[in-house]
Formats: sequence, structure tokens, C-alpha cells
Amino acid sequence: MRKEKETLPGPTPELPIVVLDALRPTTQRMVINRRGSMVWEVGSRWGHYAVKVGHPVEATADWPAQPWTALAPAREGAVLLRLGVHDIAYGEWEQGTWNFQPWHQGPDLYRLWERCRQKDSPTTPDTSEALECAEALAELHAKGWAHGDVQPAHFIIGPERTHLIDLALAHGGGHVPEGYDFPFRGCLVHYEAPEIARSVLDTGEAEPTQAADVYALGASLLISATGWRAVEYPDDARRPVQREAVANGRRRPVKIPGELGELVDAMLSHAPGDRPTIYEVVKGLS
Ligand SMILES: Nc1ncnc2c1ncn2[C@@H]1O[C@H](COP(=O)(O)OP(=O)(O)O)[C@@H](O)[C@H]1O
Ligand SMILES: [Mg+2]
Repeated sequence: MRKEKETLPGPTPELPIVVLDALRPTTQRMVINRRGSMVWEVGSRWGHYAVKVGHPVEATADWPAQPWTALAPAREGAVLLRLGVHDIAYGEWEQGTWNFQPWHQGPDLYRLWERCRQKDSPTTPDTSEALECAEALAELHAKGWAHGDVQPAHFIIGPERTHLIDLALAHGGGHVPEGYDFPFRGCLVHYEAPEIARSVLDTGEAEPTQAADVYALGASLLISATGWRAVEYPDDARRPVQREAVANGRRRPVKIPGELGELVDAMLSHAPGDRPTIYEVVKGLS
């Protein structure tokens, strides 16, 4: 799996003044600064927070303008509020929107399963850790939402429980203020279900669904356990070429041993109706 570049060149940006005013940080560390999105880890007398700040992405020769990245933090804030998450806030700054939310300590799924991917004597993936990820997604589905952007980096395996983060693209469970809403245009292609990839190719947009989330969880477990993408395409393939391969179902065989492997294989079924529900996945892993 190639890692997206996490920092951009240039001077280190600062937290917007509205956020400084709201949190009065005692410590702050920039976690990522990539196209359209910045994340800080912030300590303050009120708690330990992740601060997300969005701004628009200008068009270049390589990609079209993406004005929606400016809205993503507020959209996520609205979803978190609907979900009843405590200790969050969101708002606007000069260039876009921001939110803060509780910081979750722990490795993500990809890092947690690093030892499963080592060449010499790899360990087998821990089914109870896979179960925790499935439970986090099941909790969201039970509230009527589809996440839309399930990927290994979005599962944080904490000491007490596993958290599913980055709800900026979640749909279906409740109202999102119109001013902060934007259409779903797909996610990281490695985790995109075939029907999502097809719809994005045909119309530029798609409908996030719980069945597509189950596919994405299957692809996340597979890549974290083995290093292999669910679908075969060259590393340097352009995004539409990747989506074509996904939509046409050029699946790789799932090489995870045992019941976990069988379950992941079913989760990666081409037809959404052939995939287990997240509750069936939880049951299968329990
Ligand atoms: N609540 C959180 N707790 C801990 N880390 C977080 C949290 N939110 C974001 N992060 C860190 O920042 C990274 C990017 O956050 P994410 O929500 O995925 O934003 P983006 O919209 O840029 O993809 C995550 O992979 C994680 O490392
Ligand atoms: Mg993300």
C-alpha cells in the first residue's frame, strides 16, 4: 500500500484563531497537512482533542478544483453531533471550516497488523481485533448511517475500545445542514465497492451504502493482514483505470487463513446483496 504524502512543503500553517480562542491549547502537534485538510493533536485544560481544519483545493494540471474539502470538517462535525458524540464543536474560519473532537489514542489497523505483513514468519491476524473494527462499524450502521470512507487508517484501536473516525462522508442517518453538505464522489479506490466505482465512473457521484461499507471493511482487513489490495491494478494506474478494474471485479484471491479469510472473501462479493451485513460479520467473528 502506498502512503499518501502526509506533509506539504512550505511554512507550517497555524491553527485558526477561532480554534485557538475556543481551546486555548497548552500543547499542539500537527498530525497531517495534505491537500485540503489539516489535523492537529491539541491538549488543553478541557481535554485532549483532534482538530481538523479544511480549505479548498485549487485546480492544478493533475487534479480538478475540490471546493468541498473546505466544508468537510463542518460536515463531519454535524454528523458527530447527530450521533450524540460529546465534546465536539465545529465552525468556520477564513478559508473553510473546522471541527474539534475527542482525541483517540492508539495505532490504526494498518499499523497494528504490521507484523502480519512481515516477510519472515508473519503472525496471523488477530480475530478479536477484526471483531472490534466490525463492532465499531456495526454501531454506526445501527444508527442508520453509512460511513462512506471505511479504510484501515480510520480504525483507531484504543486500549478500551476501537474508534471509527473521519465521518465527513457519512450519509443516511440524519440531516446535514445544506450549507455544509456536498455530494459523495467516491473514496480511496482500494476500498471502493464495485457499484460505487461504477457509479463514480458513470456519473461522477455515488450513494454511500452500508453494503459498500462492508466491502470496504473486507478490503481493509485484507490489505492490513496481507499487504494486498482486493483488486488487481498496476501501482501507478490512474484513478479511472483503478475504478474500471474494481467495477469489472478483477478480484485477487483472499489469502488469509481460516474463517477470517472466508468472511473477508464474502464481504468482498461483487454483488452488494451477496455480502454479509455488518451484524453477520460481527456474529461470524465472535
Ligand atoms: N479523533 C481522532 N483521534 C486520533 N487521531 C485522529 C483523530 N482524527 C483524526 N486523526 C488522525 O488524523 C488523520 C487524518 O484524519 P482524518 O479524520 O482521516 O482526516 P482526513 O479528512 O484528512 O482524511 C487520521 O488518520 C489520524 O491519524
Ligand atoms: Mg481520512
